Amino acid sequence: MASTFFAPSEYSDGDLSIRAYRPGDGAALQRATLASYEHLRPWMPWATNDYSIEQAEAVCRRAHANYLLNDDFTLSIWLGGELAGGSGFHLREGPLASRNAQIGMWISAAYAGQGLGSRALAALLAWGFSDWPWERLTWHCDTRNVASARVAEKNGLTREGTLRADRFGVDGQRRDTHIYAILRDEWLQRQGA
Ligand SMILES: CC(C)(COP(=O)(O)OP(=O)(O)OC[C@H]1O[C@@H](n2cnc3c(N)ncnc32)[C@H](O)[C@@H]1OP(=O)(O)O)[C@@H](O)C(=O)NCCC(=O)NCCS
Repeated sequence: MASTFFAPSEYSDGDLSIRAYRPGDGAALQRATLASYEHLRPWMPWATNDYSIEQAEAVCRRAHANYLLNDDFTLSIWLGGELAGGSGFHLREGPLASRNAQIGMWISAAYAGQGLGSRALAALLAWGFSDWPWERLTWHCDTRNVASARVAEKNGLTREGTLRADRFGVDGQRRDTHIYAILRDEWLQRQGA
């Protein structure tokens, strides 16, 4: 399947656009993540306050290449033409043929707490269960990350369990992880209801 699967590259709904990163996105990525450092730092291990445009551009190009190769599907979230966050259908739960993907997300500080994360996840489910082959989409969050858990719950994902002390948090302490998931049939039924 992998060799003949051509991943959809963009989803739009009004002023919201979710798409693969492209060469040239580095400046926008650098600006959004540097301005969001304090907001992202507690939850995202990759957050840094020392990030050049060239480094950000390299990240965008690598993401673009991986996307074309079906190795991983990192996405950018744009609102009214501004980079407002990042996401992805990540192949962390099996290869593409398993039809499982894990959705990750960050919303920039400028847009956080205004409903965008919830809206973006709704869009990712609509896109993921229509144009993509996903049968099961998951969302992992630190049990202390109330906003992240709410985004999942508001979108109808089921908390399937909690992994205990499964990884190191950004603070170096072991942390617990809630696993949320939604199945294609479940999502389709909810649309019909
Ligand atoms: C988690 C994140 C993606 C949520 O996106 P968002 O756009 O801020 O969320 P929304 O505005 O859609 O809010 C969703 C819910 O969380 C609540 N919420 C938002 N920020 C919150 C906060 N800091 N503390 C507690 N609850 C919060 C909202 O009130 C809302 O719940 P409600 O509708 O019951 O009132 C975003 O805040 C973020 O990027 N955080 C840093 C990175 C991160 O944690 N990523 C997730 C990793 S799993």
